[in-house]
Amino acid sequence: MGVTEKLDDVPPGTDRLAFREWNDDDLDRFHAICSDPQVMKFVGDGQAWSRDRTGRFIHSAKEMFREHGYCQWALIHKVDGELIGYCGFVNSDDAPEIGWRLAPEYWGKGLATEAARAVLKHGIETLGFQRVIATVQAANVASIRIIEKLGMTQVERFDRDGREVLVYSADAGRLTSG
Ligand SMILES: CC(C)(COP(=O)(O)OP(=O)(O)OC[C@H]1O[C@@H](n2cnc3c(N)ncnc32)[C@H](O)[C@@H]1OP(=O)(O)O)[C@@H](O)C(=O)NCCC(=O)NCCS
Repeated sequence: MGVTEKLDDVPPGTDRLAFREWNDDDLDRFHAICSDPQVMKFVGDGQAWSRDRTGRFIHSAKEMFREHGYCQWALIHKVDGELIGYCGFVNSDDAPEIGWRLAPEYWGKGLATEAARAVLKHGIETLGFQRVIATVQAANVASIRIIEKLGMTQVERFDRDGREVLVYSADAGRLTSG
C-alpha cells in the first residue's frame, strides 16, 4: 500500500545520532557541507553545490516527508548538537532509495554506518518497505562498504556521463531474518 499510519515519524535515534525534519534555518550549515568539493566528489557530476541547489534539496526533503512519510532526514550529532548531514530515503520508480552524506569532520567514526542501520530498520519495521535500493558511484569505496555492511546485494551496473554507477538492493524478508 505504501501508506503509513505514522507519517510524521522519524527514525529513533542511536547512541550518537538523532534524526529530525529539516528547518529553513539549516541552510547555512548544510550548505557548508554541500559546497565542499571533497564531500561532493562522488555525488552526481561531482560538482560542489550552489546555495540555491542546497536550498532546493531541503525544500524537496520537506515535501517528500510530507507526501511519503520519509525523506533524507537531517542528522544530528548528539554530543555537540550539530547538524552533520543527512541519512534517509528518497522515492524512486523502483523502490525507496537509501542514502547519506556527512560533514568530513565526522568521517571515519562509524557514524554513517550507525545512521544507515537505524534508517534501514525504520524503513522496514515502521514504514513497511519490502525492498530498498542504493545507488553509488563505483569509485565511492566508503559508501560501498556501508552498503555491503547493510547486507545489500549488487543488482545492476551502468554508465552515467562517464561515471560507473552500481545499484544495490535489499529484500526486507532477508534482512530481518538475517
Ligand atoms: C560515505 C560517507 C557517508 C562515509 O561516512 P563515514 O561516517 O566515514 O563512514 P563509516 O565511518 O561508517 O565507515 C564506512 C566504512 O567505509 C570504510 N571507509 C571509509 N573511508 C574509506 C576510504 N576512503 N577507503 C576505503 N574504505 C573507507 C570504513 O573503514 C568503514 O568500513 P569498516 O567498518 O569495514 O571499517 C562519507 O564519506 C561522506 O559523506 N561522503 C560524501 C558523500 C557521499 O559520497 N555520499 C554517498 C553518495 S552514494
